[in-house]
Amino acid sequence: MKDYNLFIAIDGIDGCGKSTLSRGMEGILKHMGRDVLLTREPGGTESGKLFRQLLISKQYELEPDTEMMLYCADRLEHQTKLVLPALADRKDVITDRFVSSTYAYQVFGRGLDKDFLDYLTKRSIKKMPDITFIIEIDPKTALERAMGRLERDNKVDEEGKFEALGIDFFTKVAKGFDWYADKFENVWRINGEQKPEKVLADVMHILDNFI
Ligand SMILES: Nc1ncnc2c1ncn2[C@@H]1O[C@H](COP(=O)(O)OP(=O)(O)O)[C@@H](O)[C@H]1O
Ligand SMILES: [Mg+2]
Repeated sequence: MKDYNLFIAIDGIDGCGKSTLSRGMEGILKHMGRDVLLTREPGGTESGKLFRQLLISKQYELEPDTEMMLYCADRLEHQTKLVLPALADRKDVITDRFVSSTYAYQVFGRGLDKDFLDYLTKRSIKKMPDITFIIEIDPKTALERAMGRLERDNKVDEEGKFEALGIDFFTKVAKGFDWYADKFENVWRINGEQKPEKVLADVMHILDNFI
């Protein structure tokens, strides 16, 4: 096993399987004897829980730029208070969502100013992930899975802001992730239309080269 720990981001549209994959990776890496922190954006820190509530509820009707700034504020807190200390402690850090989500949802989905996000990103990110996995899936499948989960958990109003925007919005967001995967280094596309075990196996196969 190589002697360094990794910062790993898992991203993709709602319902693509990020949380399922992250938990699977956490299990395997721990089983290998590695020290792992599984966390998420928004909401990985104590203050982040408040940011998350503001961001994913339908209740507040935030201005789009407010929303984008809050995502970056949450990320700055998350990096500084949780991710960087855990990396310094030699933990692998898996984050369920990272900056590719903000490009996909806010710039591609909502049509906000990319230069503004570039600037906020420069101010909020101190360390980029060693590797980012983007789970790709048909937006229609993703929306069905995400709505099914919200209905099952009875959280349509509490957490369903983006799902309420529907298939056209999801399609734009998926294009944003596609753009991000082309543009940035150390980004891997994963086929999310496969069984969860196969998605996990594909990711672990790629990670084999790093660990
Ligand atoms: N590869 C898969 N195939 C079919 N269903 C899946 C797959 N991965 C996850 N799911 C299911 O789809 C829903 C959304 O998965 P989840 O991991 O919560 O996605 P995300 O975190 O990206 O929103 C859950 O009900 C989950 O059990
Ligand atoms: Mg999730």
